[in-house]
Amino acid sequence: MERYLIECVSAGKYYSRNGHSFAALSDINLTISKNETLLLKGRSGAGKSTLIHLMSGLIKPSSGKVLFNGISLGDANNKTLSTLLQNEAGIIFQNFNLLPTYTVYENIEIAVIPGKKDHLIPKTVIREYLERFDLADKTDLLPSELSIGQQQKVAIIRTLIREPSVFLPMNLQVPLMTNQHPKYSVSLKK
Ligand SMILES: Nc1ncnc2c1ncn2[C@@H]1O[C@H](COP(=O)(O)OP(=O)(O)OP(=O)(O)O)[C@@H](O)[C@H]1O
Ligand SMILES: [Mg+2]
Repeated sequence: MERYLIECVSAGKYYSRNGHSFAALSDINLTISKNETLLLKGRSGAGKSTLIHLMSGLIKPSSGKVLFNGISLGDANNKTLSTLLQNEAGIIFQNFNLLPTYTVYENIEIAVIPGKKDHLIPKTVIREYLERFDLADKTDLLPSELSIGQQQKVAIIRTLIREPSVFLPMNLQVPLMTNQHPKYSVSLKK
C-alpha cells in the first residue's frame, strides 16, 4: 500500500461561536504523495489556512483524521508535533512571521537546520538563496523596508533552507521558483 506524505480522511475542523458549532472545514478527503504539488483554491474564509494548519499539526482535527507520513496528527503528542514542524513541515504563514528588528540576513540565519540546532547556516548558502530570489541587495534591510512580495520571499528562503519534506505556503504572492506544476487542485467551497 502506498504511504502518502499527507492524507486527510474525512477531516473537519469546528469552532464554537455563540454556543453554536461552526465548520471552518468539513469532510476533506485528499492525499499528497512525495514530489506531488497540490494547489488549494477557495475564496477568503473557505478554509485554506485551516487545512494547512491541520496538515502541519498546528491544530488538531475535530473530526476525521489527518496523517503525516502515516502518523495521525490528532493523536500525536506535543514532542512529535514539534519535531514534525521543525523538520518536516515547511509552513509559510500568511503574515510571514518575520522578526521585525532582525535584518533579512538574520531572519534567514535563525532558521535551524534539522538535527544541527547549534549550527548556524553557512553564509555561502544564505547568500546563494538571496541571489536566487533576487534579494542580494536587500541583505541588511529590515522587513519593514521590503515590499510584501520581498518579505514573503524571505519567509520562503527561511523555510526552504531547512529542506522540509513538504512545503506548505499560504497565499503565495510571488511565483514559485520551481519547475513543478500542480498535478491537481482542490477547491474548498462554502
Ligand atoms: N481560531 C479560529 N477560531 C474561530 N474561527 C476560526 C479560527 N480560525 C479560522 N476560523 C474561521 O474559519 C474560516 C476559515 O478560515 P481560514 O483562515 O482557513 O480561511 P482562508 O481560506 O485561509 O481565507 P483567506 O484566503 O482569507 O486567507 C473563517 O470563516 C474563519 O473565521
Ligand atoms: Mg488563509
